[in-house]
Amino acid sequence: MSYTEPFVPIPEDIIAKMLRMAAVKPGELVYDLGSGDGRIPIVAARDFRARAVGVEIRKRLVDESRKKVKGQGLSGQVTIRHLSFRRVDLSRADVIATYLTSYVLNGLTPKFNRELRHGTRVVNFDYQIPDWTPAREVRVKPSGWKKEHPMYLYRV
Ligand SMILES: C[S@@+](CC[C@H](N)C(=O)[O-])C[C@H]1O[C@@H](n2cnc3c(N)ncnc32)[C@H](O)[C@@H]1O
Repeated sequence: MSYTEPFVPIPEDIIAKMLRMAAVKPGELVYDLGSGDGRIPIVAARDFRARAVGVEIRKRLVDESRKKVKGQGLSGQVTIRHLSFRRVDLSRADVIATYLTSYVLNGLTPKFNRELRHGTRVVNFDYQIPDWTPAREVRVKPSGWKKEHPMYLYRV
């Protein structure tokens, strides 16, 4: 099994901005591909009343995020799956909210093109999806970070 991406958590204060940028609505289905400690699915469920699926390959992070989900009483809304995001069917997603590098996103674009429904929003912090044109780009400065960083929204 190869881990193509390290666990670098998205700054907590960026998550709501990211989900607002994607206009997440109650009941919508949000996926985080490479969900780390579960922070994006948790905010999506708790603060946006979405249903959320986190997909994470590292067992330690899966265990940690499932514990957090349970602790916050969000088990009915959040599922954390322990497998590669390359093996997950994305056809029911309303929103994909991720923090992945352009290199990894580039490898995922054939899958996005095959599986994502028309109108699905994809939002990613810090890196662009190569060859896709963003519907919106904003710059955000996470608290404690020195510089602003971009965030990109795409519409399939
Ligand atoms: C940059 S971190 C982002 C974590 C989380 N989304 C966040 O924003 O805090 C990327 C995550 O992707 C996970 N990852 C890497 N390759 C993966 C794969 N093929 N399938 C599922 N998760 C993967 C890593 O273990 C890591 O937790």
